[in-house]
Amino acid sequence: MTADLLNSPPLLLLASAAASAVLALADSARAQTTAPDTLQHWAARRGLLIGVAVAPRPLRDDDAYRQLLAREFNIVTTENALKWQSIQPRPGEFTWDDADVIVAFATEHGMKFRSHCAVWHHALPDWVAALAADPPRMRQAMRDHIDAIGARYGGGMTYWDVVNEAMEDDGTLRDTPWLRGLGPDYIAEAFVAAHAAAPAVKLVYNDYGTEYPGPKSDAVYALVRDLLGRGVPVHAVGFQMHLLHGLGDTGPIKANFQRFAELGVQVHVTELDVAIQNLEGTPARKLERQADVYRRVMEICTRVEGVTVVQTWGLSDNHSWIPWFTGKPDAALLFDETYQPKPAYHAVLDVLAHDGQGPRAGDSSR
Ligand code: G3I
Repeated sequence: MTADLLNSPPLLLLASAAASAVLALADSARAQTTAPDTLQHWAARRGLLIGVAVAPRPLRDDDAYRQLLAREFNIVTTENALKWQSIQPRPGEFTWDDADVIVAFATEHGMKFRSHCAVWHHALPDWVAALAADPPRMRQAMRDHIDAIGARYGGGMTYWDVVNEAMEDDGTLRDTPWLRGLGPDYIAEAFVAAHAAAPAVKLVYNDYGTEYPGPKSDAVYALVRDLLGRGVPVHAVGFQMHLLHGLGDTGPIKANFQRFAELGVQVHVTELDVAIQNLEGTPARKLERQADVYRRVMEICTRVEGVTVVQTWGLSDNHSWIPWFTGKPDAALLFDETYQPKPAYHAVLDVLAHDGQGPRAGDSSR
C-alpha cells in the first residue's frame, strides 16, 4: 500500500488527525474501568506508563494475546513494524499495514502509542545506506521518511524514538551510513525534522548499555545536553535495559537516571527484558532470580521522579527476540508462553502497588 492519506481507511484517519481526542476520551473512561490488580492500574496511580513492544501477527490472530495486552498495559510500541525496512523497503513505496494494526489496537483500547524507530543503522535498506555517497539525497530521504511517519501517525502517537543507538560503547559516535553521509549533525537534523512533522509528539533518543554511568552513558548525556542547549527538540531519553547477564548494584543507575532527569528530559526504560540463560540455579530458582531483577528495576522506576515510561521488549516468552538472538532457549519476559504471569510479573505488580514512595506527580503530556 502506498502512502496516500486520502485513501486511508477510517481507523487511520482516527490515528492521524482525531486520534488525540479519542485517546483523551478513552483515558478518562479507563480511569474508571481499569481492572484493579493489573500493572496498568497501579502504574497509572503513580503517573507511570507501562507497556510492551508488540508485533502485528498476534494482534491479528491471537485473542489471548490481545486480551492480556489490553488488560495489563497502557502503552504499546512497535517492535519492528515501523523500522525503515518494514515501511519503506524501496524508495518512496510505503507499506503501513502492520503498523496500522498496532495503531488501531492502541486507539481501540485507549492505549498510548510509541513509534520505534526512525533513524537507525539496522533494519535499514541497502538503498538508503548507499545514499551516504550522495549527502543531499540522503538528507532528503531522511526527511521524507520522517515526514511520512509524522503525516500518518503524528496525531495519535505520544512518543517517537527518533534516533536509535547512535553511540558506541567507548562514547564515540557509531560509524553508520548516517554518520558517514551526513556527519554528526544528522542526529539534530532528525529531531528537528521529526518535530516539524509531528509537533505534539515527545521525541526520544534511545540506546542500549547506557543505564550505568560510563563512557557510553556520559556521551549520551553530553549529546542530549548539547542538543537541548542548541534548542533541538528532544524530550526523553530511552534506556533499553536488555539485561542478558543479571543486574548489579542499582544505586549508580538511579543516580544516572536522576542526572538525565535534571537535564529536563523524561527518562524511559524502553526495552526491558531479563534473560535467564546466564542465571544460576534450577529452573524455578532462575525465575526467582529473574523476578528479583525485575523488582529492583521497578524500584528504580518508582523512586526516580523523572522516569515516566517502562516497557518490556515483548509481551510473553513466546514473543521474545532473545532466543533468536542468542540461539538458546530463554524466558525473559513477565508472562510465560501460555500467557500465565511469572514470578517476575508478581514482583513488578508488588512494587507498583506497594513501594513506599506513593503516587508521583502526574505529567499532563502523558
Ligand atoms: O522469527 C524469525 C524466524 O522464524 C526466522 O527463521 C528468522 C530468519 O532470519 O528470522 C526470525 O525473525 C527475526 C526476528 O527478529 C525474531 O525476533 C528477524 O529476522 C529479525 O530481523 C528480527 O530482529 C529484530 C531486531 O530488532 C532487528 O530489527 C527483533 O525482532 C527486534 O526485537 C529487535 O529489536 C531491537 C530494537 O529495535 C532496538 N534495540 C535492540 C532490540 C533487540 O535487538
